[in-house]
Amino acid sequence: MRRLLFPLLILPATVSAQQAGLEAKVKDVAAKVVEWRRDFHQNPELSNREFRTSKKVADHLKSLGIEIKEGVAKTGVVGILKGAKPGPVIALRADMDALPVVERNDLSYASKVTADYNGQKVGVMHACGHDAHTAMLMGAAEVLSKMKADIAGTVVFLFQPAEEGAPEGEEGGAALMVKEGVLNAPKVDVVFGMHINSATPVGTIRYKPGAFMASADLFKIKVKGKGSHGSQPWLGVDPIYVSSQIIQAFQGIVSRESDLTKAPVVVSVGAIHSGVRFNIIPEEAEMLGTIRNLDSSIRKKVLEQVKNIATTIAEMNGATAEVSIENKTLVTYNDPTLVQQMLPSLEKAAGAGNVQTMNWQTGAEDFSFFQEKVPGFFVYLGGMPIGMDEKKAPPHHTPDFKIDDSRLDVGVKAYCQFVFDYPKTKK
Ligand code: NI
Repeated sequence: MRRLLFPLLILPATVSAQQAGLEAKVKDVAAKVVEWRRDFHQNPELSNREFRTSKKVADHLKSLGIEIKEGVAKTGVVGILKGAKPGPVIALRADMDALPVVERNDLSYASKVTADYNGQKVGVMHACGHDAHTAMLMGAAEVLSKMKADIAGTVVFLFQPAEEGAPEGEEGGAALMVKEGVLNAPKVDVVFGMHINSATPVGTIRYKPGAFMASADLFKIKVKGKGSHGSQPWLGVDPIYVSSQIIQAFQGIVSRESDLTKAPVVVSVGAIHSGVRFNIIPEEAEMLGTIRNLDSSIRKKVLEQVKNIATTIAEMNGATAEVSIENKTLVTYNDPTLVQQMLPSLEKAAGAGNVQTMNWQTGAEDFSFFQEKVPGFFVYLGGMPIGMDEKKAPPHHTPDFKIDDSRLDVGVKAYCQFVFDYPKTKK
């Protein structure tokens, strides 16, 4: 017994009292967080249209006495909470937008919302769980505002719009928040974020140091040939045939050209449009696709290869290819030193044994734009019911996406631990 008691006795009394206070306050706010999450779930809003959501966030932060800025990056809200003691500036981020998906779940709070999306009427659903992120960060704001006297430093709450990408012709998301200076006033030292995950057991936290999620680049390729009768292809230049060669060759970038011992690469063509009739060789074909990388030096090479392959193969066939590549996100990179420093915080939040490492993901996150500027750490929080098979978990971005929201308190606590545990001496 003595051996067990000893470490308790040497803990500074103030720290353990502070920790106990934090735990009690997280418990107090937990039910409200679930309520908020379900309210957001029932009232989802598309990217750059998060008007109701951001109003709720702003009203809540105001009621806590947190200084706020509204209309950041269109519909974003930034809250600034100054602690009683000097220290680092710590940013906590939650994204707020939903997706154009029709919900298929039988839940009392399922979404029935429809909206206009790029000129089309669509169903709207929180099919990626950003409703949970917003609610958890509101909960953390409540806890932290009540513990202001214990905080050394400043907390910046980043309630971000349009993580899923702004509508056509609009800017948005983390990149626009950075552009508008959210990391500069006050100057942010470190940024933390998390994502609920439908295939990770509820209450568990998973992480990966270094490259975690992929960069995403969208490519558009227009192949221009020469039209002819389908019976006389030699009189034209067939853009469909040329496109098929380009698609084949792209897979060689992955299997023959990239050093797969360093990091995985994905090149996928997701759409191809050409032609109207069986016996007409069209003049043009257009392809759309995505490129995923987990290493920025490999990424640079892959982007060049996509351009070179498309234009060279087109030229070989007497056609031309116009290639445009648009960057959507960078590599989500978890600073390895920061990860080591903050692991005990994750254990405090989820409990020892409930913090696990995971493989890299070819999915993407625009949190990477914050990490491009300051060290950051992005983790997965489990939302899969106990006993479910991970392979059967409903995937994100689908009509059946569903999470177990009974342990959102783990996420609230993780946000708060990041604030209290981040080293107070600047590097
Ligand atoms: Ni998401």
